[in-house]
Amino acid sequence: MTLLLDQAASVVDRWRRRHDDPAGAVTRCEADELLRVDLTVNGRPATVHVAPRVTLADALRDHLGLTGTHLGCEHGVCGLCTVMVDGDAARSCLVLACQVDGAEIVTVEGMGTPADLHPLQQSFGTHHALQCGFCTPGQIMSAYDLLTSEPGIEAAQLPDQLSGVLCRCTGYRNIVDAVADVAEQYPQGVPGPRNCNHDEPRLPRATLGGPGTPTALESADATSGPAEIAVPSGEPTAVVTVDTHAKAPLDAIWGIVEDTESLATCLPGAEIIADFGDDQYKGRMRVSLGPVRLAFLGDVKILERDDATHRVKVIGQAADASSGNVAAVVDLTAESRQDGGTDLHAVAELHMVGRIAQFGRGLVNDVSADMFHQFAANIDAASRGEAPVEATPASALSIVFTLIRSRITALVRLVLGRN
Ligand code: FES
Ligand code: FES
Repeated sequence: MTLLLDQAASVVDRWRRRHDDPAGAVTRCEADELLRVDLTVNGRPATVHVAPRVTLADALRDHLGLTGTHLGCEHGVCGLCTVMVDGDAARSCLVLACQVDGAEIVTVEGMGTPADLHPLQQSFGTHHALQCGFCTPGQIMSAYDLLTSEPGIEAAQLPDQLSGVLCRCTGYRNIVDAVADVAEQYPQGVPGPRNCNHDEPRLPRATLGGPGTPTALESADATSGPAEIAVPSGEPTAVVTVDTHAKAPLDAIWGIVEDTESLATCLPGAEIIADFGDDQYKGRMRVSLGPVRLAFLGDVKILERDDATHRVKVIGQAADASSGNVAAVVDLTAESRQDGGTDLHAVAELHMVGRIAQFGRGLVNDVSADMFHQFAANIDAASRGEAPVEATPASALSIVFTLIRSRITALVRLVLGRN
């Protein structure tokens, strides 16, 4: 444990020295503090802002969109996450992104393009050295490291030397043949990566909604200007619909909805940190899911606000330091009730990438619904001049119950569907 803490402290220390941080003597940082990490990835400059605990693999996949680097065990055993760091093969699941600040990284994407494959990529195809292909990026990067460090290696040594990357499909025969073929073709050393063009522009950040979506998220920070926000394309990860009501009359409720600052204070865990005008803001939001604490930083824009129909449409995009990116389009309508209160109806389309997308839809629905009910109660309270009530984070136990409930519901639906 002491060793781990020392290691973590020296990583942060190293990062601070490199960035001439006046607080260089500090060896601790908050779990959700973002560190700036500058890298050269496949010949192109790239910057990510990540928590100290974020691995290089997650930075590549979730922050830079380079999903060619696969994750299997995340414990340094399977080798699927192998990339080159300053010319040496490294298991990117075991390397923290902030440890390799300033390093030159080559991933499988840098090895070649479909039109100009690296000889190893070509050879894996020719020798049918893959079935599902999940291990292939790791195999190729590991083989590249082997053939650059030991050109002219004997074919008999390959099975042993390639055993560091686990393949569950092929039985290795064809993988060994593919690498042996390249070793034989290039006895003086295998050619370098073919898609590491230093003249190309900066690596784009990870985007939501598939290729072409211009939504750049993860490096938003409090000092940056307004981000370009666009409705994500593609199917949302989850659609949450919530109906609730407030005791206050429509006019009082709408008075809060119209005032964005007041509205933000009603959303549990949210705060506005910059107002750019034109209904665009930068904000922070903290969400607790039992033991999991997420801290999102991002941008919000009010797309429509219709006083006649009492409808407001908001788009937000935010990133958590380690769990990934979320974009949401929220459509909120307020309507007068016969008893003098106000009905609130909200539909939220959520687009998620990264680890956060692994939360089940059931959990996302339940947490979002809880938050919205709390939000509505706070709007109600604010309309009476009362302070918002702090949200109670979901406990680990309630999360487990939620998961069990959603599994049972899914099972019942499946059974009923078959009957
Ligand atoms: S995912 Fe890194 S070694 Fe398995
Ligand atoms: S080809 Fe499927 S795991 Fe290797």
